[in-house]
Amino acid sequence: MKALIAAGGRQPRLVAVLVGEDPASATYVASKTRACKEVGIDGVTLRLPPDIDLDTLMTHLRDLDEDPEVDGILVQLPLPAHLPERQILESIRPETDVDGFHPENVGRMWLDKPGGSPSVCTPATPTGIIELLHHNKIELSGRHAVIVGRSAIVGKPMAALLLRENCTVTVCHSRTRDLPAVCRLADILVAAIGRPAMIGPEHVADGAIVIDVGINRINDRAEVERLFPGNRKRLAGFDRRGYSVVGDVDYHRVAPKTSAITPVPRGVGPLTVAQLLVNTLKASRRQQGLKS
Ligand code: GUN
Repeated sequence: MKALIAAGGRQPRLVAVLVGEDPASATYVASKTRACKEVGIDGVTLRLPPDIDLDTLMTHLRDLDEDPEVDGILVQLPLPAHLPERQILESIRPETDVDGFHPENVGRMWLDKPGGSPSVCTPATPTGIIELLHHNKIELSGRHAVIVGRSAIVGKPMAALLLRENCTVTVCHSRTRDLPAVCRLADILVAAIGRPAMIGPEHVADGAIVIDVGINRINDRAEVERLFPGNRKRLAGFDRRGYSVVGDVDYHRVAPKTSAITPVPRGVGPLTVAQLLVNTLKASRRQQGLKS
């Protein structure tokens, strides 16, 4: 990306809209803009108060979308409860929607045949996961992928993208019966539930590939000791910050069964950020009429 951005054209610009002061969201947005700087994208954060009304927010978004120098807009989720998420995401033009959350982009993603459409931005986390699997030369065609979680941000688009790779796809959720048995059918298991260490060894077949999308903060020291026995670095980190970040997978107990697994932190998180930059560059080049 660095080379491509340095090679010419207008500097790509990404605006992250952060409504309210949720500390986790503020951290994510900060890491997104930091990463922008690293590759030469102009990453700007628009901070708005938690009690902003819908009209004011929509006016901000329209102004950004009408600015020809803004290539990508992302509204960090979740939004405060009084704001209608769907209506807000639909107000951003599909061309500047680098999150791939606009219904038109969602529709195109589901309609795409294997190979996909290079011009549509697809959600960063699942798109980054596909890149990760390709990069590690993991065969996808014909293999069974089981996704736990059906969110619009991860679970559902992950299903669309794995289907596009010719996987057989199963999507599980809170009403799934005998979840461990279904998960054990997976060649590739994607955990995107948002519950700390919920996926244990009973969910994983020997040799499976496990992708852990969860980013959960735990505040209980005894729980950290239970999940990471003998891991002094973990406890030291907890003692420094007062919390520890854990995935949806019980890494210590699951990792020995797998042929490959992503860690938390420093796994899918940074991958998502990197893919967002790729999406921004793609939107910017398209906007400028440059070849992707
Ligand atoms: N909140 C959690 N994940 C995401 C994401 O990928 N994009 C945005 N905008 N908000 C999020």
